[in-house]
Amino acid sequence: MNIIETKIKAGASEPFKLLHISDTHLTLADERDNQRKRDLAAERVKGFPTSEQFLDEACKMAKRENIPIVHTGDLIDFVSAANLDRAKKFTMENDVFFITGNHEFSLYVGEEFEDEAYRNRSLSLVQKSFPDDLRFCTRTVNGVKLIGIDDGYYRFDQAQLDALKKEVDEGLPIILFMHNPLHEPVLYQRSMAEGPCAYLTSTPEELMKDYDDYRYRQQKADEITLEVTRFIESCPLIKAIFAGHLHNDYEGMVDGHLPQYVTGIGTARIIEIE
Ligand SMILES: [Fe+2]
Repeated sequence: MNIIETKIKAGASEPFKLLHISDTHLTLADERDNQRKRDLAAERVKGFPTSEQFLDEACKMAKRENIPIVHTGDLIDFVSAANLDRAKKFTMENDVFFITGNHEFSLYVGEEFEDEAYRNRSLSLVQKSFPDDLRFCTRTVNGVKLIGIDDGYYRFDQAQLDALKKEVDEGLPIILFMHNPLHEPVLYQRSMAEGPCAYLTSTPEELMKDYDDYRYRQQKADEITLEVTRFIESCPLIKAIFAGHLHNDYEGMVDGHLPQYVTGIGTARIIEIE
């Protein structure tokens, strides 16, 4: 397990720590799931062979340090009875602040275009395995507000903007957690050097001209997404963003001033908030 330590100055009444992990991609299926899901599990486990081992180590570390785990999504690779049971065990046996990813709602992986309607086919079922609201959740620790916001489909919505503004009105410093990182030029360049698109929320349209049609439709920000992004970028109470999705570690800046940290597969990031 790769361990990274990150310090954030937010103005906490007492310093505290969080253990940030992401993108575990559990690939379980059993006799309660259909043959298609069991076949999918047998195939997908090849890409994520050490998920269980990593999750176990991370949970032990959090217990040893007596700190909460923040998981920024893709805990499960696809919706199955066995994966949801495992997710429930994880959230019940540990102190977990959970932010959903895109895979939490994958019925099978990549078989359909994933949008709000697709998510709503499994949202209520998946929600039962997680104590935190999967679309928007908060927790206050030592005078610092932790906010989780679902942008797993590269979009925010009006309800999330309203909820975020309400939290901001309380005046506490905020640390933001989301699955997909926000666009920033350096991260965009890094992602484009490795793949067909950047996999970031609110990438400017002019930088998407080489995306294929599917990726363009998937990742093009709508008006409300751009509005939420501008709100985040201009809110002085938001001190940092932590995300996942890219499967690699990264540290950068959104809009040239807002620190953004991406935690990859196999990494446990210990965040110390002062
Ligand atoms: Fe993801």
